[in-house]
Amino acid sequence: MSILVTGGTGYIGSHTVVELLNKGYDVVIVDNLCNSKLEVLNRIFKITGKTPRFYKVDVRYEEELRPIFEKEKITDIIHFAGLKSVGESVKFPELYEENNVGSSKVLLKLMSEFKVHNLVFSSSATVYGVPKHVPLMEDDPVGGCTNPYGQTKLDIEYLLKDYAKEHKDANIAILRYFNPIGAHQSGLIGEDPQGIPNNLMPYITQVAVGKREFLNVWGNDYHTIDGTGVRDYIHVLDLADGHLAALRKLAEKPGLVIYNLGTGRGTSVLELVAAFEKASGVKIKYVIGPRRSGDVDENYADVTKAKREMNWESKYNIEDACRDSWRWQKNNPNGYDE
Ligand code: NAD
Ligand code: WQD
Repeated sequence: MSILVTGGTGYIGSHTVVELLNKGYDVVIVDNLCNSKLEVLNRIFKITGKTPRFYKVDVRYEEELRPIFEKEKITDIIHFAGLKSVGESVKFPELYEENNVGSSKVLLKLMSEFKVHNLVFSSSATVYGVPKHVPLMEDDPVGGCTNPYGQTKLDIEYLLKDYAKEHKDANIAILRYFNPIGAHQSGLIGEDPQGIPNNLMPYITQVAVGKREFLNVWGNDYHTIDGTGVRDYIHVLDLADGHLAALRKLAEKPGLVIYNLGTGRGTSVLELVAAFEKASGVKIKYVIGPRRSGDVDENYADVTKAKREMNWESKYNIEDACRDSWRWQKNNPNGYDE
């Protein structure tokens, strides 16, 4: 009985692997390391005293993935592997289609062949496109994605729905994450973006540690509490825990289910900056800039379905997440590079 975790050395994957190992699951990771480092495995060992089995595999290539299905006794899959940079996806839409949708097709083919019934998939709030209202509910309309990355997530959701129709014994949990932030409290694992961070929290922590001079706040004329964009920032440990809840749900054989994973609360850019300053004691210099193309005013989750059906809800608040992001960044100013 093993859980196959694709993309398991990445940001959310590594935190989920720690939770899985702590709960006694047998974990097998496949990752091609295109956006993560092998050092993650040492850190996972330091936290848990266990090392998951690791295979450097590109999930796009059936011939690389097949031997893992042959060798390991996989019962469940958590599929994190994917490219996730919105800006990069605008430049290279075919690469995003090939990597994200292509690898999901290969995974489904092998799942079917090897009769693995349970799959948890990393989707994103981005599938809701431009929200007509908040909080967003799972049965709200999807589509109108503002970038090719988001479109790949939606395309994979459709693939999974078709698969579930054809495979009556399949159990699939589509988890739509909102904005993951934070890090493990050990300060040993965390988010390690390559180059200039696109996302807000890693940008803030890099300003705090002196790697960037100031934060650009993308727009202060949104229809929000203080004019800056409002998002639902969820601690990565809560997210990790949501995957364990999803695995338990799949054991009830529910067929295909969809859950938002968020906190249900919106926080503006300036509120997050203030929370970070409070948690870290470091002042964040910022400059108000123009709006970033594709951004929306507000985006946060209705989380009642996940609570009702999986008995899962977030436990950490924004201050906890800021404190943990800061500990990770301070202890590892260059991420996993020494
Ligand atoms: P990440 O980049 O840290 O992790 C993804 C991992 O997948 C990396 O280790 C990368 O090396 C690996 N990978 C990519 N393509 C691969 C391939 N073809 N074969 C094997 N491995 C491959 O990203 P993350 O933040 O941990 O995100 C995990 C998943 O969650 C992604 O699918 C992402 O789209 C989704 N998601 C992330 C966010 C977010 O803001 N972080 C929000 C919503 C959804
Ligand atoms: C948050 C807020 C920005 C950076 C993205 C993806 C989404 C999902 C999560 C994967 C916005 C503002 C940001 C900066 C800023 N990922 N901001 N200065 O855009 O909500 O979501 O990550 O699925 O698909 O689109 O997150 O962290 O980039 O931005 O002012 O340097 O911070 O304008 O209001 P976003 P983000």
